[in-house]
Amino acid sequence: MIEQAFVEAYGTEPEVVVRAPGRVNLIGEHTDYNDGFVLPAAIDRAITYAGRRRTDRLVRVFSMDFRASAEFSLDDIQKDAQNTWSNFLRGVSKFLEADGHHLTGADIAFGGDVPREAGLSSSAAVEVGAVVFWKKLLGLTLDPIYIIKLARRTENEFVGVPCGIMDQFISALGRRDHALFLDCRDLTYRHVPLRADVKIVVCNSGVKRALAQSEYEVRLKQCRQAVAQIASTGLAVESLRDVKPSDLAATRGVLTDLLWRRAHHVVSENQRVLEAVQALEGGDLEHFGALMNASHNSLRDDYEVSCKELDALVELARKQPGVLGARMTGAGFGGCTVNLVRADAAEAFARAIARGYQEALGLKAEVYICQASDGALVSA
Ligand code: GLA
Repeated sequence: MIEQAFVEAYGTEPEVVVRAPGRVNLIGEHTDYNDGFVLPAAIDRAITYAGRRRTDRLVRVFSMDFRASAEFSLDDIQKDAQNTWSNFLRGVSKFLEADGHHLTGADIAFGGDVPREAGLSSSAAVEVGAVVFWKKLLGLTLDPIYIIKLARRTENEFVGVPCGIMDQFISALGRRDHALFLDCRDLTYRHVPLRADVKIVVCNSGVKRALAQSEYEVRLKQCRQAVAQIASTGLAVESLRDVKPSDLAATRGVLTDLLWRRAHHVVSENQRVLEAVQALEGGDLEHFGALMNASHNSLRDDYEVSCKELDALVELARKQPGVLGARMTGAGFGGCTVNLVRADAAEAFARAIARGYQEALGLKAEVYICQASDGALVSA
């Protein structure tokens, strides 16, 4: 597909092709920017780049999904207000050059099947794909953590979205049939095997995450405020990661009810991730599912980032046979739910959710039965 798009756009074959997947987060939501724990998996939906070197400093880029082209010079990389889809590649190229990696011009085509604005990290896939693309095209020696940080920096500083590090990390270092347990403070991680008798099923509510960015920034600030107020009581905390569940009761009088609920979500969610990893490694999928359910309830009630469509999908899912757990995934305010479903019940589950969502809300849900996949650095 991408090779063909490249040939159509430039009349010649690409030299390299790079694939960077989207992700689904199994548990550990809104914890990454609090130095906490996450457990995402890369999915079998990806952004693919194809490209060829040029002898000058021009970058021409064709977006298969937008059916549009843009170009820029490596000597003057600016944000493009019209072709916003090209900003990820622009940002990545700018920061690589600024860090002393000499790029050459290139002809590039990219696109894929990660749904946009659905909470499956299509942006992270576009960013990670761009860095790995340059690495492969030019034979650059780049450390994996540097690649991940550069992709995130592009999102934070060039595109202007203040995300954490989870999405870029999993898009780069996911592994087939595994989830990835990541400590977002020191970036240590390990892959945790997913069993073949359960499936990860993603249900797309179809609701675009309209409030996601502004509310995300509000949550980020609230977490910082909570930390400052807890620290003022003499507890040695730098982030909500440092707040132990047993400290939380004592902070009730210090924080407003709202800030306490925000902190309560993050502190309890970190605990749930640790338990979920143990449950997965110990084969206790029932407990894993129960933790997913508790995560959703906490995101809905304490962190207040769910919405009626996500809640409806989760309620519907929990009534289906073979479902171990159901929760919203990603930043919230729309996007997707993630469900852990016994493999032999997955197809029937997918049909029941599509039908039930249509009946309950008159809306269409796309349902994807996912396969955990290799990240861009694993398959490159
Ligand atoms: C978005 C961000 C991530 C993370 C999640 C919430 O996906 O990009 O960094 O904060 O929201 O868990």
